[in-house]
Amino acid sequence: MSGTESLVEVALRVLNTADPVEKARLGDEVANKWLQGLITQPYDPSQHFTVPDRPARLTNVKLVSPSLMPKLGKAGSLQSRQAIVHSLVHTESWAIDLSWDIIARFGNQEAMPREFFTDFVKVAQDEGRHFSLLAARLEELGSFYGALPAHDGLWDSATATSEDLLARLAVEHCVHEARGLDVLPTTISRFRNGGDNQTADLLEKVIYPEEITHCAAGVKWFKYLCLRSKNLVDESSMVFEEGGARESDRIMEENDEVIQKFHATVRTHFRGPLKPPFNEAARKAAGFGPQWYEPLAVKDVIPE
Ligand SMILES: [Fe+2]
Ligand SMILES: [Fe+2]
Repeated sequence: MSGTESLVEVALRVLNTADPVEKARLGDEVANKWLQGLITQPYDPSQHFTVPDRPARLTNVKLVSPSLMPKLGKAGSLQSRQAIVHSLVHTESWAIDLSWDIIARFGNQEAMPREFFTDFVKVAQDEGRHFSLLAARLEELGSFYGALPAHDGLWDSATATSEDLLARLAVEHCVHEARGLDVLPTTISRFRNGGDNQTADLLEKVIYPEEITHCAAGVKWFKYLCLRSKNLVDESSMVFEEGGARESDRIMEENDEVIQKFHATVRTHFRGPLKPPFNEAARKAAGFGPQWYEPLAVKDVIPE
């Protein structure tokens, strides 16, 4: 990796790496270099890059349509535990690609501030770690990634939102990742009840808290884009610092327009309705309250 490469250039290299183990390893190296200031430039505005429609993937994982996926079960048997962990490993492998894709596809195109890149580099690094830890756990359980079929629903929605950063943030990070927060506590208790505390601990102590921050990144940058379009964000003094209770944060919290825009975006780009029950506490920790998602849980909503 040359010191003069931009973050987007190396993000593309991660996307074009087929082997998920190598994808995670390279992503981790890139993330460390960005976070340590060894890669300094987010992108070179004079260079034009093509972001692949579909990142490179190995062909050893058999893909089937979501409706044909075998039942995962409730973690009561080894077979079910393997199936659940396998599906989580697969999801994490796509989550790595999603994080580098949002950086490479939209960072330059939408002239996003440096903090956007840093936030999604951190997400990418987390996802790579989740992939590696879960893939290792799957092997401890006597299986391996590729032993079972998988589906690519996550990438379908990445494709459907490849033209629109607002849609990408809303659908991938505030719908799919938030859904992950809704279901993860049940998965964790199933592993505990099935006697597999090791997987339960990994999900509860490492993955769950980090997934909250991913959802938070989606909410934060969705708000940012809405406010920027109304000239309510001052680029020179980024207002989105962690834990900052600044005036502009409060304005955002109260901003009904942002929430209306979220509803309209999800209704346009996600085949609805959202599935309750919602994990209110985790969603609140990610920065969005029920007013964001409850109205989307209603069937047959009238489009705004
Ligand atoms: Fe993850
Ligand atoms: Fe995530």
